[in-house]
Amino acid sequence: MTDSLKNWHIEQDENQIIWLTIDKADSGTNVLSSEVLEELDSALVTIASRHPKALVLASAKDNGFIAGADVTEFAQINDSSQAEQFIKKAHSIFFRLENMNMPTVCMIKGFCLGGGLELALCCDYRVCSDDITTKLGFPEVKLGIFPGFGGSVRSVNLIGSLPALNMMLTGRAMSARFAKKTGLIDNVVPQRHLKRAAIQLIETRPAKSQPSFIHKMATFGLVRPLIAHFMKKMVSGKAHKKQYPAPFVLIDHWKKYADMPTEMYLNEARSVAQLITGSTSKNLVRVYLLQEQLKTLGNKKDFTPRHVHVIGAGIMGGDIAIWCALKGFQVTLQDQRAEAIGPVIKRAHTLYKKKLKSTALINEAMDRLQPDTHGTGVKRADVVIEAIFENIEVKQNLYREIEPLLKKGALLATNTSSIPLETLGEALKQPDRLVGLHFFNPVSFMQLVEVVKTENTSPTTLKKAFAFSRHIDRLPLPVKSSPGFLVNRVLMPYLMEAVVLESEGVPGVLIDKAAKKFGMPMGPIELADIVGLDICLSVGKILAQTRDDIKIPGRIQQLVDSGHLGKKTGRGFYAHYKGRTIKPEIPTGFHEPADLAGRLVLRLLNECVACIRDEVVETTDFLDAGIVYGTGFAPFRGGPVQHIKNSGVEKQFKALSDLEIRHGKRFIADDGWQPLLNNKIS
Ligand code: NAI
Repeated sequence: MTDSLKNWHIEQDENQIIWLTIDKADSGTNVLSSEVLEELDSALVTIASRHPKALVLASAKDNGFIAGADVTEFAQINDSSQAEQFIKKAHSIFFRLENMNMPTVCMIKGFCLGGGLELALCCDYRVCSDDITTKLGFPEVKLGIFPGFGGSVRSVNLIGSLPALNMMLTGRAMSARFAKKTGLIDNVVPQRHLKRAAIQLIETRPAKSQPSFIHKMATFGLVRPLIAHFMKKMVSGKAHKKQYPAPFVLIDHWKKYADMPTEMYLNEARSVAQLITGSTSKNLVRVYLLQEQLKTLGNKKDFTPRHVHVIGAGIMGGDIAIWCALKGFQVTLQDQRAEAIGPVIKRAHTLYKKKLKSTALINEAMDRLQPDTHGTGVKRADVVIEAIFENIEVKQNLYREIEPLLKKGALLATNTSSIPLETLGEALKQPDRLVGLHFFNPVSFMQLVEVVKTENTSPTTLKKAFAFSRHIDRLPLPVKSSPGFLVNRVLMPYLMEAVVLESEGVPGVLIDKAAKKFGMPMGPIELADIVGLDICLSVGKILAQTRDDIKIPGRIQQLVDSGHLGKKTGRGFYAHYKGRTIKPEIPTGFHEPADLAGRLVLRLLNECVACIRDEVVETTDFLDAGIVYGTGFAPFRGGPVQHIKNSGVEKQFKALSDLEIRHGKRFIADDGWQPLLNNKIS
């Protein structure tokens, strides 16, 4: 039976230790699919029958141990009792490992996440390599569930309630060293000593790790309700119970069962089965799979650049340069004003300290980022990114200057938000080498990059742009060169409607609150301040040139004319002080218009529908991915198109028509609604 295993190898060494290695077939990453789990079960039966001295679990893949359960299988489960049966089956396999009649060790290098960590917790001991790629965590909450393969029970028993809940509620992964401190793992060693460390644990069999007394106390029946109350309060500050139920269900699960392991396993299966078949988890899984889809667009092997030259050391160029150096590229940063570069170097240090922690790594990254006021890097660079003023003439002049200097095969990218690439390309002898790489602000936080193509952009250039996006760990979204591309085009009507509402006297704070209640990460008024009112105005004007429904409200022009550009000048719709936004109180007795949220959201949805009709993106999946990752659109709704479908196409269409009657032409439904109403868009 075990001879036919596709995903596991069993090897017995001369010391009678069995090494059980996972190597998922036809996949670069190990995940626990149902096939992998079934094979694990039969492997364990075989191993038990051989009575070895010990069992060590390991991975044959370089990138890590196990990334978690197979998320693609989640998407196919629609029935909660079917889900519960599946989880209980996994429980029984994990119990088999936990109860093996020999010492068991899990050897970890790289990621060990979700179901992978749950599997590791069934072993007597865990040993990890100390490199920075080693990460342990429970990211399940990001998919709208919590650990379902016994992890919610075993983590509490091993490290104590508070650290375990913290891991499960935040979904954050921890380093090997930190995991050792919490007691999650037994030993951390350099990779070359991993095997030896595993054998040593088998030979010495130290006492198994236990939570400290303080952490044990948190599990006592009397204190649990109090802690649960406190935890729920903390979680409510970040997530709404109806929108993201998983953390709340997890807290209740722990509160009720933390000292009754048998019942806790059963309730884990029941609760996770219900969550996984609920709409939030379904939509979050969809968003996760969309992300994976975008990742596959770029193949790193297609293009292996080393040197990036960025021109323009402003907000965007500076941050792009900082990010590329963080990701290992040699970066030269050019600006016509030498004094623009100093603040970038300062920002780089702050980010690297946060991300890299070790002084040696911070210094290496700082060394990779080099000021280059004379632009000598252009000649050597494999990728040149232009992020100078949003001005056609200035950009075109620069292109004329640098084109003759570019290395053969170098990628030339612009970060323009609003200028048609066709216009910029007119200044080039070879316009086919120009591509848009439209990053979002702040670069280190926003994963999406719009890869903008024109009729002229060559397939090779595009391939390189996608590959480069993946090298710097961003999600490339292919978009057509058209005003506003995708994200700004969709955002603009929504932002402008917010400004119209504000001009009508609705307090900005109330407008922002309505958008956040819908599930947006930040309200539109605050977002406009952060993007910069000058940028909003410029993108808005470009769109308004060709559109009747986009009118720039006088208020925004007024603020820009008085130099109030938003966060960067300390004043916009709100005041901003030392990085904080100061929001006024909502005047007492102010009655919110009943259609406030509808006006905001439906303008956004209508624009999404228009973008599909205009083929700004190739598929509705790309649209949903772009808007979720480019604007933060309520991930638990699965993207705008998914939201329209889930909430009812007819219902949304009617709501839009009602708004048109009340507020005029800007709410006219786009022609793109017809195929949706006729069910012709999948
Ligand atoms: P910024 O005004 O902060 O920085 C522009 C920098 O370019 C300045 O430091 C300036 O000295 C430099 N510069 C201008 N002409 C130059 C030249 N010929 N040679 C060398 N340096 C030159 O502008 P920001 O906001 O960083 O925008 C840059 C580009 O990125 C624009 O095309 C903008 O549309 C785009 N963008 C801006 C976003 C934002 O949120 N600010 C978001 C996405 C794209």
